[in-house]
Amino acid sequence: MRVLGIETSCDETGVAVYEARRGLLAHRLYSQAQQHAEFGGVVPELASRDHIKRLAGLVNGTLDDAGLGKSDLSGVACTAGPGLIGALLAGLVFSGGLARALGVPLIGVHHMEAHLLAPLLEGDSPEFPYLALLVSGGHSLLVDVRGYGDYAILGESLDDAAGEAFDKGAKLLGLGYPGGPEIARLADEGEPGRFTLPTPMRGRRDLNFSFSGLKTALLYKVRDLTADKTLDETDRTSLALALETAIVESLLDRTARALDESGHGSLVVAGGVGANRRLRSRLKEMCGESGVSLYYPRAEYCTDNGAMIALTGCLRLAGGAPGPAAPDARPRWNINEVTPF
Ligand code: KG4
Ligand code: ZN
Repeated sequence: MRVLGIETSCDETGVAVYEARRGLLAHRLYSQAQQHAEFGGVVPELASRDHIKRLAGLVNGTLDDAGLGKSDLSGVACTAGPGLIGALLAGLVFSGGLARALGVPLIGVHHMEAHLLAPLLEGDSPEFPYLALLVSGGHSLLVDVRGYGDYAILGESLDDAAGEAFDKGAKLLGLGYPGGPEIARLADEGEPGRFTLPTPMRGRRDLNFSFSGLKTALLYKVRDLTADKTLDETDRTSLALALETAIVESLLDRTARALDESGHGSLVVAGGVGANRRLRSRLKEMCGESGVSLYYPRAEYCTDNGAMIALTGCLRLAGGAPGPAAPDARPRWNINEVTPF
């Protein structure tokens, strides 16, 4: 069984082929980040148009890399949501046409389920049940993973997602888009303790996240500092460090509580923010101390990619749960609404 995976939910066009027996055979990614950078964030209409431009070339290239032809495919998987409606439609229309022409099923994949299952690309995933911390540009979730497709949301963001906090913070500091990697780069040069920002939700009894207050705290700090001068390099790097620390410590606090309450002995971390090195090392420390096994995919499978879509599509097809023949684009779609398999 070989499935072509297509990801177009935001500003990355990802294509991959996953085979049930041999695993990932090939994957390609085209990032539109540079096109959106001058606008400081993703422009939805530009994103959809560019996906349409890139898809055919990426699919042909990926199949070439894998040494396969289209007739070797048993299914086509495509992100059906959540994401930008136009970007999702671009992928679904393309994938639907291809699947129909080949006479194979089209599998509509939930983007966050694909992030959650991405550690399987490394052949490394815990046994059920386990806890997942999913942190991306659009979502921050703590999920109780009871089986394939069987997810309960334990906590979620009440406002901005963790990645959004990085992106908006970066904008305030005059950095480029996407902000996460930029903040992380600057933070490495920051002076510890020069600035501190409050850790959102620390000690709260629920398991939710909130990052919009942090953005405001940073805004005020920048305003104070720029009242009579411009930000110098040490200010900027140290503010980046304070922001990164506050986000990471908040994620850590919420995750520790969720591990405690659920009693799970394994934790999966995925999604774009899961690529953050400070987050990974702090989680490693925490899990080491509490005897929890930690799993995360390499950074390129944490951020958006086609490999996780091909993998999830292949698992769903093999598990007999490919979903409707013509999946709708679902810009809003909760992970606990997918069908178990
Ligand atoms: O999962 P993803 O690639 O796309 C969505 O599904 O949203 O996540 C993108 C988000 C962006 O907000 C980006 O700034 C953030 O992940 N990100 C990072 C890092 N790499 C990407 N945040 C912190 N540190 C990173 N190294
Ligand atoms: Zn994502």
